[in-house]
Amino acid sequence: MSKHILVTGGCGYIGGMTAITLAEQGFNVVVLDKKIKPLEFEDNIEYVQADLRDIGTLDALDEYEFDAVLHFAAFIEVGVSVQDPISFYQNNVAGSINLFSYMQKRGIKNIVFSSTAASYGNPESLSGQKPLTEELMPSPINPYGSSKVIVERLLLELQSLDLINPIIFRYFNASGADSLSRHGEEHDPETHLIPLIFQAAVGARESIKIYGDDYPTLDGTCIRDYIHVQDLADAHVIAAKKLISGDKFPSPIFNLGNGFGYSVKEVINMVREVSGMSFIVEQAPRRAGDPAYLVADNKKAKQILGFEPTNSSLQNIVQSHYKFITKDDKILDYSDFNDADSNN
Ligand code: UFG
Repeated sequence: MSKHILVTGGCGYIGGMTAITLAEQGFNVVVLDKKIKPLEFEDNIEYVQADLRDIGTLDALDEYEFDAVLHFAAFIEVGVSVQDPISFYQNNVAGSINLFSYMQKRGIKNIVFSSTAASYGNPESLSGQKPLTEELMPSPINPYGSSKVIVERLLLELQSLDLINPIIFRYFNASGADSLSRHGEEHDPETHLIPLIFQAAVGARESIKIYGDDYPTLDGTCIRDYIHVQDLADAHVIAAKKLISGDKFPSPIFNLGNGFGYSVKEVINMVREVSGMSFIVEQAPRRAGDPAYLVADNKKAKQILGFEPTNSSLQNIVQSHYKFITKDDKILDYSDFNDADSNN
């Protein structure tokens, strides 16, 4: 019998890609989100509009049975989390507690939780310029990262009491778009490097600014681990299947990254190469809180889950985003993003 999965935050970037992938693989998918149902969802994805901060709205899920929950719903803007931390704790922490409470009431134990590389805080103080391993002590440096680490800890505790079976994924830099261009990265406001470079390329912004070229890296710009959103979605499908088949993970935290890094300048050059477009690149001061180097050690996810980031060459990431934004003249819509405050 096909399995039923609840996807919170399934209208967002990573949650949406995962919902589409699960449905393609024959799962019965119910998305819970406070946003309206995205157009790219086929009829085989059910949709419930609800806000995790309001526990009463979860009763709308009572008519479904679930084998697992994939919990993406959260606020993600680091800058906003510093300005308004309480809203982050309310949404990301209290909302998660409401979800866990509902799961307990319904007897659902399997959960995959979206965490972040921001859990590590300042990675250079942890490991120098080496890929980060999961056993490093989390030390977030902003309320966004803290909100995720608090929920990680809650899950570990509930696991030790045998109340929940979790897998916790720490995403590195999610990027790229669905190969059929149905779904891709569209945050509002957009702060991520690849969409911003393309906005400069299509004239939706004057230039792309490089935030700092005096970092201790080969070309002076920051190095990140870009992981294709399809690889993230595939990891969730693997995780859901394993949890549903009864596997337990005593050490349930896994990095999801491609395992190597690209500099900001390398990403800019790849956009030029893939699109053939020219655009203005400006030097700008460093952005506060940016580590020079942030790359995942992904051996644990590979060895234990069989995770393989097969879509995550920088060329494929950039090409798929380019195809996504040029599909149906989508680039014309840049000035008209609608509400997109819940994320992943
Ligand atoms: N950058 C620029 N110019 C821009 C935008 C970004 O030079 O206009 C640089 C940044 O300084 C950084 C790199 O491009 O060096 C990547 O920046 P992003 O904003 O795309 O991504 P981050 O690495 O800052 O953030 C990502 C996720 C966060 C998560 C964080 C973990 O988007 O949600 O990784 O550290 F918290």
